Amino acid sequence: MKFVIPKGRLMDESIQFLKRAGIGIVIDDSRKLIFREGNNEIILPRARDVPVYTEYAGDIGICGSDTFAESQIALFTPLSLNFGKCRLSLIAPKRYSISDFADLRIATKHPNITRKYFWTLGMDPDIITLNGSLELAPETGIADAIVDIVQTGETMRKNNLIEVKKIMDISAIMVINRVSQKIKYDEINNFIEKAGELNGNGRICKKYIE
Ligand code: PRP
Repeated sequence: MKFVIPKGRLMDESIQFLKRAGIGIVIDDSRKLIFREGNNEIILPRARDVPVYTEYAGDIGICGSDTFAESQIALFTPLSLNFGKCRLSLIAPKRYSISDFADLRIATKHPNITRKYFWTLGMDPDIITLNGSLELAPETGIADAIVDIVQTGETMRKNNLIEVKKIMDISAIMVINRVSQKIKYDEINNFIEKAGELNGNGRICKKYIE
């Protein structure tokens, strides 16, 4: 099977998780991005590319639930995993009330989630998309606020920013290619079952019905 694991902050825990589930491919410190052993393969793209690699080149991926939601790619999501816990929040230099945001500009790496969140509140604020270091946006004045990941809260505090509102809880999730799920039905369901047992109560559903 082909596994898609994000480089970056979820990588080590994802590899450990696969190892516990019986996929013990050794990932060395080289700059290689694909590792193969027997019939298994691990692909290591950038975190935000995991959904698209799972859709076009993989069978099973691990990514943040925010990355999956932002991607708008149709994958099966059978398991919520017990790591990568953080939240996506609306953050600003001062304590705005939500209604103020109709007239403010927001910078984010998550434009789709942000737009949907404000649409559900009947607002359509100006949203600009950045690729990282979002804390710079209010400081430089290119945006009034940001929608960003908060894990420890350290980055926010160091940059004199306040969490105005949590938008969603995030955790790592398992994502499955929908075609693979059909043609490798037993293999994939067995893996999900095993992974689900390792993961305690993180199970979303046991087996795909389609
Ligand atoms: C994320 C996020 C914040 C930081 C939050 O950035 O965008 O900057 O982590 O973590 P904390 O609450 O534990 O301080 P990341 O490290 O992924 O880098 P990036 O800004 O370059 O995307």
